[in-house]
Amino acid sequence: MAIIYHESSKIFHLYNDTVSYIMMVMKNGHLGQLYCGKKIHDKEDFTYLLEKAGRSMTSYLYEGDRTFSLEHTRQEFPVYGTTDYRQPAVEVLQENGSRISDFQYVSHCIRAGKPKLEGLPATYTETDSEAQTVVITLQDVVTGMRAELSYSIFEEGGVIARNVRLVNNGTASVHLTQAMSLCLDLPDCDYEWLQFSGCWARERHIRHRRLVQGTQAVGSMRGNSSHEHNPFMVLKRPTADERQGEVLGFSFVYSGNFLIQAEVDAHDVTRVLVGIHPSCFDWKLESGASFQTPEAVLVYSDQGLNGMSQTFHRLYQKRLARGCWRDRERPILLNNWEATYFDFDEEQLIGIAARAKECGVELFVLDDGWFGERRSDRAGLGDWTANPRLLPGGITGLAERMEEMGLQFGLWFEPEMVNKDSDFYRRHSDWILATPGRSQSHGRYQHVLDFSRKEVVDEIYRMMSGILREAKVSYVKWDMNRSITECYSAALPADRQGEVFHRYILGVYDLYERLTAEFPRVLFESCASGGGRFDPGMLYYAPQGWTSDDSDAVERLKIQYGTSFCYPLSSIGSHVSASPNHQLLRRTPLHTRANVAYFGTFGYELDLNALTGAEITQVKEQICFMKKYRRLLQFGTFYRLQSPFEGNETAWMTVSEDRKTAIVGWYRVLNHVNGNFARVRLAGLRPDYRYRSVSDGRICYGDELMYLGLITSDDTASETGMDVKSCGDFESRIYVLESVE
Ligand code: GLA
Repeated sequence: MAIIYHESSKIFHLYNDTVSYIMMVMKNGHLGQLYCGKKIHDKEDFTYLLEKAGRSMTSYLYEGDRTFSLEHTRQEFPVYGTTDYRQPAVEVLQENGSRISDFQYVSHCIRAGKPKLEGLPATYTETDSEAQTVVITLQDVVTGMRAELSYSIFEEGGVIARNVRLVNNGTASVHLTQAMSLCLDLPDCDYEWLQFSGCWARERHIRHRRLVQGTQAVGSMRGNSSHEHNPFMVLKRPTADERQGEVLGFSFVYSGNFLIQAEVDAHDVTRVLVGIHPSCFDWKLESGASFQTPEAVLVYSDQGLNGMSQTFHRLYQKRLARGCWRDRERPILLNNWEATYFDFDEEQLIGIAARAKECGVELFVLDDGWFGERRSDRAGLGDWTANPRLLPGGITGLAERMEEMGLQFGLWFEPEMVNKDSDFYRRHSDWILATPGRSQSHGRYQHVLDFSRKEVVDEIYRMMSGILREAKVSYVKWDMNRSITECYSAALPADRQGEVFHRYILGVYDLYERLTAEFPRVLFESCASGGGRFDPGMLYYAPQGWTSDDSDAVERLKIQYGTSFCYPLSSIGSHVSASPNHQLLRRTPLHTRANVAYFGTFGYELDLNALTGAEITQVKEQICFMKKYRRLLQFGTFYRLQSPFEGNETAWMTVSEDRKTAIVGWYRVLNHVNGNFARVRLAGLRPDYRYRSVSDGRICYGDELMYLGLITSDDTASETGMDVKSCGDFESRIYVLESVE
């Protein structure tokens, strides 16, 4: 890994074993983009890559020169309106109403490691040898604005992390109306665009299309990163697939409004922008003030989509998630939400917990409904004290009883919200986000607290930390169940209302930072009506997230498959729930529900007392299996093998670091009559190792399993399926392969 600056050609070359990223200071002082792709040799001069073209109806920068136009130049930090007409990386609204600026190179500084981003989540290094960073300072002379463009290249994988810090060194205030974290101009548009979109209970479904001239984008203006679109996008070469080919992944380490877009111009040049959504964003920068953008992470892989995902997994598991839970196997939990909803009391909870303990569950999680007058979603949010009628000994008493039973105890909060019917709101009715004179729209009868205000965050911190200090709580589920409307802060002046969305998220991060610092042993799980804020920003504070409110095993195939493109299995909250399923009334076999949930954090979302004796035996076996293979399932190298978006069957697998053990999950949605012979080609094994399948004892070489495949056809590939018990719809199997070397 190195970052080299060639003085003679003014070229920066960032490279490691996988990727090269080359930029240069151009004639006009701006930073040009020369190359981003597979690692190439370094040399003194790459200026030939700065292709120029004189074209009609083009505007040129220099009098008498018909070659240099920013419109036809690939750039790193472009502005609009000085010969470039595409969407810019930055826009500065000045006192005189102008939005024109001209950011020219001033200096740069190369250092080992990676500096922290103040107040924002970001990837990090533990030793300086893991990454190098170059900060390139540009300046706009007229306004005195400085832009510090930061690029960190990691030693491992094709990873480049970027952010921008903008400093107003001028004398007048300006308004930042666009401040993107990443801009990358690619020389062609021969890519397929993959986005991860959906809605509540249907998150991160893969959508793909060819890039075409014009603008394609995903984003959120909801205040949370959203169920609708994830702050993640992939460009892959059309010939690339899961196992081979060139892929670029773009991930935004942020939990609020975002925009990821690709603009393809008339000459098929592609400009990718990643950053805070410019709509609703307007940040006033007074003289001397600065603005830090969140981090964007770019991953290049020539090993296909799995290669890209594995790079994200390693990075986000080891150098984005933090704390003592980062590397630890996650507790098998039982959450009471789908078991009781709001209808419970302490004895009922103890009854559920006792059965869970008997089955081998390690952590009992008390979900919504334990506080204030919260007997439905209409009241009580904000009153973070236990309801004594339900829990006579309070949270402290309940947690103690759980501990006596040998269970850890976890608790649900929704810190950012209030119901109007709550004592909290009656005390602080002016603490919600609301625009004067306008309607106050609700979501699930709740309103959003103004987390842009420190006193609001302080008060919520006081209440939450009080409980966490007093009671033995080892896990917190942090929920967020509505998006923001009528966004306006009573504490900010008119010309700062465009800052509220971002200040809100900074407030959320601040509360997370304080709580995780004070309670480092508590495992945090993020949640936003399921997967409405499943993003890298959250992962920095909470190493796992509730992936979706849809707990149906079949739906989860798509949701977890899509989620795995960016996020590691250790972050994917996945539970076994009741049948028929509560979201869509589908009946699936208990083993299939577990076979899906194993590939994540694993737990139960149902009352085990409602199961039959035979089912309880099965649950006990499932928990034993999970405990035995949990490290491999949560921290192994994950491969997607067969996509639920492309057919009736899904397969994925995880492989241990020494490649001696692998677990394959195979799932079929609908059964066939007289079906085909079927095989799944595995991945990641050692070709020369022999692997024994634990279920049938058959021994095969790794190369057999990878090149000709694992045979998955069953008795339905014949004329009688009647006497075969487990070959119906929603069938699944787990194959454990152990090396006999
Ligand atoms: C959200 C969460 C659920 C549950 C409920 C409680 O919908 O996603 O898991 O916690 O809130 O109200």
